[in-house]
Amino acid sequence: MSTSRLLAISLLSAFGLLTGCSKSAESPRASAAPSAPTADLANGKAVFERVCAACHQPTGLGLPGTFPPLAGSEILTRGDGSTVVRIVLHGLQGPITVGGNTFNSVMPPQGPMLKDNEISDAISYARSSWGNRASAVSEATVRTLRATVKRDGMWTWPELDKETGGK
Ligand code: HEC
Repeated sequence: MSTSRLLAISLLSAFGLLTGCSKSAESPRASAAPSAPTADLANGKAVFERVCAACHQPTGLGLPGTFPPLAGSEILTRGDGSTVVRIVLHGLQGPITVGGNTFNSVMPPQGPMLKDNEISDAISYARSSWGNRASAVSEATVRTLRATVKRDGMWTWPELDKETGGK
């Protein structure tokens, strides 16, 4: 083997070591950040398309006058996502304004049909799709809200807005 060939090989392996090192140095920091929940967005897309898209459409645009849009929705993207977790767990009924249009319909509770991670992944997918740029929601948030928020009926928007105070 020629010297230049050997040199090239050792340079390449040194480069591999270097990039390998920088990756492993970053990951502990990323996972230590408590304010940055992560989600399985591929699973979220699958759950969204199986469950939510029947009404809100795969495009997230909803159907005018019938199903409100999730693309650009200030309700879906507000705060840390605990408002939409409550909507998905317990449902929503009555007048609601999204993007300047009023809807007055019923979203049945999805909590009994879906696992905690299915809810957090689907919501995280919707909060980061179609131009939406909101943070992911963790499975732990869904688990906590499922355990602590006890309701018999669906939410109305004024009740939910008061309960979550902008979150
Ligand atoms: C059976 C139809 C249906 C399904 C399934 C459904 N929704 Fe809804 N959703 C609605 C309707 C109808 C409303 C408006 C209710 C009202 O008028 O008070 C709504 C409201 C909402 C809102 C608040 C308004 C807005 O546009 O931001 C969010 C957020 C939302 N849904 C998210 C979801 C997510 C996420 C899923 C899947 C886990 C889902 N929905 C499944 C029908 C549905």
